[in-house]
Order: sequence, then C-alpha cells, then structure tokens
Amino acid sequence: MTTHTSVGPKAKAILERDRKVVSSSYARPYPFVPHRGEGVWLFDVDGRKYLDFMGGIAVNTTGYAHPKVVEAVTEQARRFAHVCFSDFAHEPVVSLAERLVEKLGGGYRVYFGNSGTEAIEAAIKLARYHTRRPYLLAFTGAFHGRTMGSLALTSSNSKYREGFSPLMPYVVHVPFPDPFRPPFNATEQNVAEVVLDYLEHLFATKLPPSEVAAFFVEPIQGEGGYVLPPPGFFQRLKALLDRHGILLVADEIQTGAGRTGTFLAMAHEGVVPDMVTLAKGLASGYPLSALLFREELSSWPSGAHGTTFGGNPVAAAAAMATLDLLEGGLIENARRVGDRLIRELKARMMGRPGVGDVRGRGLMIAIDFVKEGRDHNPKLRDRIVNEAFALGLLTLPAGPSALRVSPPLILTESDAMLGAELLQRAYERALELG
Ligand SMILES: Cc1ncc(COP(=O)(O)O)c(C=O)c1O
Repeated sequence: MTTHTSVGPKAKAILERDRKVVSSSYARPYPFVPHRGEGVWLFDVDGRKYLDFMGGIAVNTTGYAHPKVVEAVTEQARRFAHVCFSDFAHEPVVSLAERLVEKLGGGYRVYFGNSGTEAIEAAIKLARYHTRRPYLLAFTGAFHGRTMGSLALTSSNSKYREGFSPLMPYVVHVPFPDPFRPPFNATEQNVAEVVLDYLEHLFATKLPPSEVAAFFVEPIQGEGGYVLPPPGFFQRLKALLDRHGILLVADEIQTGAGRTGTFLAMAHEGVVPDMVTLAKGLASGYPLSALLFREELSSWPSGAHGTTFGGNPVAAAAAMATLDLLEGGLIENARRVGDRLIRELKARMMGRPGVGDVRGRGLMIAIDFVKEGRDHNPKLRDRIVNEAFALGLLTLPAGPSALRVSPPLILTESDAMLGAELLQRAYERALELG
C-alpha cells in the first residue's frame, strides 16, 4: 500500500466546490472523495486505492457493486422504480416483508421507510398509538437518529441536540450499563444490577411505569462508541419491562443484517424484542429501512402512518439479493473473520500506551483510546483515523474516543490482517507525532 501524504488534485478541486455549495452541517472527517468501489476496496477520484474498514458507516454489507446486487437492482429498475407502496401493494416489497418476518421466526408485521430514523419514528408512533402511554425510555450514549422524535431519544453527543430544542417531550434517559466505564461508581461485575435497581427506583419514585410505552435499546451501542452490555443484561431488562407492559424496541439499524455474526444482534442476548428496526446494512447501500413489530401490536388503522418512498421496489430488490448473500455465507464470515480480527487487534494493541480497550462482536469492532485511567482520548483517536487514511485504510470514529471497524461482511481473513497491520502502523505514527 502506498502512503498518501497530501490530497490529490481532483479530490482537492471537488472538496473546494463541496465547501461552497453543500450544507455546513456535513462532517468531513478526512478528505476522501470516492470514485468507485470493488469488493472491500474503494478508489478515489485520483485513482488512489483504499481498504474499506468503515463500510459507509456500517452499511455496505456485500461490499461495492456486488454483481448479484447490481443484477437485482437493474432488473427491477427496468420494470418500475416507484409506485407508492403506502397506497399499492407490489410483489417485490411484499416478498421482502414475508422474508424478514420469516427471519424473525414469524409473528411480526413490517412497516417500510427509507432511513433508520424513519423506522425509529414509526416505532415511536406505533408504541404510543398501541399503548396510549406517553413516555419513552432510552439509554445515555444511545443513537437513534436525528429527526425530532428520534433525536429526543439520542444522547450520544450533545452536539447533535444543541440549538434544536424543544425536542419531543416525555423521553427519559437511563445510564447504559457500560462495563468499561460503569455509571454510578459501579463495577464491571455489578453494573447490570445497579442499572436495573436504578430503573426500579425511577419507576417507584418519579416515572409511573403504567405511563411508559417503550424502551428503545441498541443491542450494542453504535455511535456511542461500540459499547457492549454485560452478559444477561437484556434478558433481565426484558423481564422487568414485561412486568409493566412496556415494549422493548431493539434498534438493530447498525447491529442488524448480520454484522455481529447473527442476523439480529439480539440473538446473542437470547431476547425476543416487541419491535425491531433495521436499515443500514439491509439493502447494500440502497435506502431502505424496516420496522418489524409483533402481530398483536398491529392496531393502527389504514392511513394512520405512511410515506411516499418507503418500500421502494428497487431498494427491496437490493435487500433480497443482500439476504441471499447473507444467508449464503456472509453472516458466518462476519462471525469468523470478526473473531479473528478482534484477536489480532487485541494482540497488536492491548497493553500499549493510550489503548484502553479492544472490543466487539463479529465485524462490529472498536479500539477505545484513553488518557489517564479510562478517561477518553479523542485527540489520539482522531490522529490515528487520519494516519490510517494516509496509509490507505478508511476508518471512522465512534463515540468520544473509539475508533470503529465496520467493514463490508465480505472481508477476507487476509484483508482483515492487512487492515490490522495498517491500524497498528497508524497508531505508531500517531504516537510519534506526539
Ligand atoms: C442504531 C442507529 N439507529 C438509528 C440510526 C439512524 O439511521 P439513519 O442515519 O439512516 O437515519 C443510526 C445511524 O447511525 C444508528 O446507528
């Protein structure tokens, strides 16, 4: 791999135009301007080649331009690209709904949207509609989207909320039982207990559980920094919520579609959620989201909710091809290559200065950088992300101090090892820079 010390001329020109014309709200973590992709590789407009360890923020499950996905999309685009699914049923999307319900073991129905946040909005509306309860619960460090309802649930970074209040009211946040940085001065061993006690305390003193519609959870916190819960926590949470008739919404927008080595990450927890949201990896980069909800919750009448583009047949065709590939070996690959990569990153990085934790499941992996003790070290993390880019490896930050690894699920073991080596080199160069 060659080292790129400065921005290429074509990339530079596009970035200059970009700065003048697009919204200043877009983040541009480093000056990468894609031109085309192939497998796990991306090429920029100057012909530079990059190993993709970010997957368009955990989206491109099947890599770039997978021939099966291209074929499915082309075939459907030739037939029709849009007839509003909110008004008229069409076969490609009905087939996808049937397949998704089957993947969850039956007993669910599906509402389709275009993006993750739309699936969350639909879940908020259905939870309130069905239970006629106003309150919603979410965890601190959660990311559920950026529209006004989902943003009210999001609490991974106050920058996302600054200047936008009043947000949707009746949302209460509960500290996440992060085993690496436990809240309430708890320990890794007792943090699940302490958080569940806190929730019971909340219900007893301030928040009548009979007024709570749903608890929104990510099986592994994504934008919050790839934070895994303690073993068994979600089972205990689900039992507690069931006692109060509160719905559990599993936001699998980042964790779902095979990324963690099972179709849903909740499968690792042995929990069956009342609702599940999927998006990102579901359709290999085509805009599609799905809210699956238990059959019994399907109480809203015709016309209660809808959207013009949600349930797009071209995106559905991409999703069907993606599911074929996931079932044909990619989920298993995510588990196998993910396990290998986590071991490799641990061996290369743990115990070195500034490295606090290497954690993950399947191909959802993070390295968390620290200062003293376990204090966040965003500066070192950002420097490594930049050095990795210069070395030809695309990564992204997640949360205050984690570097995330979320490559396409087609990643081979040898490309995974190459990425691990590049990450180590990026880390060493970042340390040298001081
Ligand atoms: C867990 C989770 N929920 C919701 C969203 C929002 O999805 P979208 O950006 O497609 O609206 C994201 C996006 O990062 C996410 O990771």
